[in-house]
Amino acid sequence: MSDKSTILPIASDHGGFRMKAFLISKLKEAGYSVLDFGTFSEESVDYPDFIHPLASAIDKGVYPFGIIMCGSGNGAQITANKYAGVRAGLCWTVEQAQLTRLHNNANIISIPGRFVDFELGWEMVQVFLNTPFEGGRHQQRVEKISHKL
Ligand code: RB5
Repeated sequence: MSDKSTILPIASDHGGFRMKAFLISKLKEAGYSVLDFGTFSEESVDYPDFIHPLASAIDKGVYPFGIIMCGSGNGAQITANKYAGVRAGLCWTVEQAQLTRLHNNANIISIPGRFVDFELGWEMVQVFLNTPFEGGRHQQRVEKISHKL
């Protein structure tokens, strides 16, 4: 679970820019310290340029949790999951956001900025940040994720 005293990094491409701006204002209102990794306008950009820096910082343990988005949420999530220490869950319902914490111990939430409305995005972020990992049988499953054949 996230603690408001830690910095929360957030990143998007142009497809997630509006959602990112909305989430930053809600997070600040709620008392979080947010670090915006960009992008900073709706001008077309390449999502890996903004997702890699955030995912790399999560991988190195600089921040415990992060929030990313692009138009579909897929490009952002695929990029972030290149890092061994990242578990980025693509979420489009509140239940998905809850389950990716409970079962996957996800440390990044990826949001499809063009497919969910702002309020749902904010609800998912709150649930993501406030749901603990369940552990138990899910612990060994999460450990096996990095066991490639
Ligand atoms: C940008 O047009 C779009 O491709 C991007 O935001 C994302 O959906 C990629 O997965």
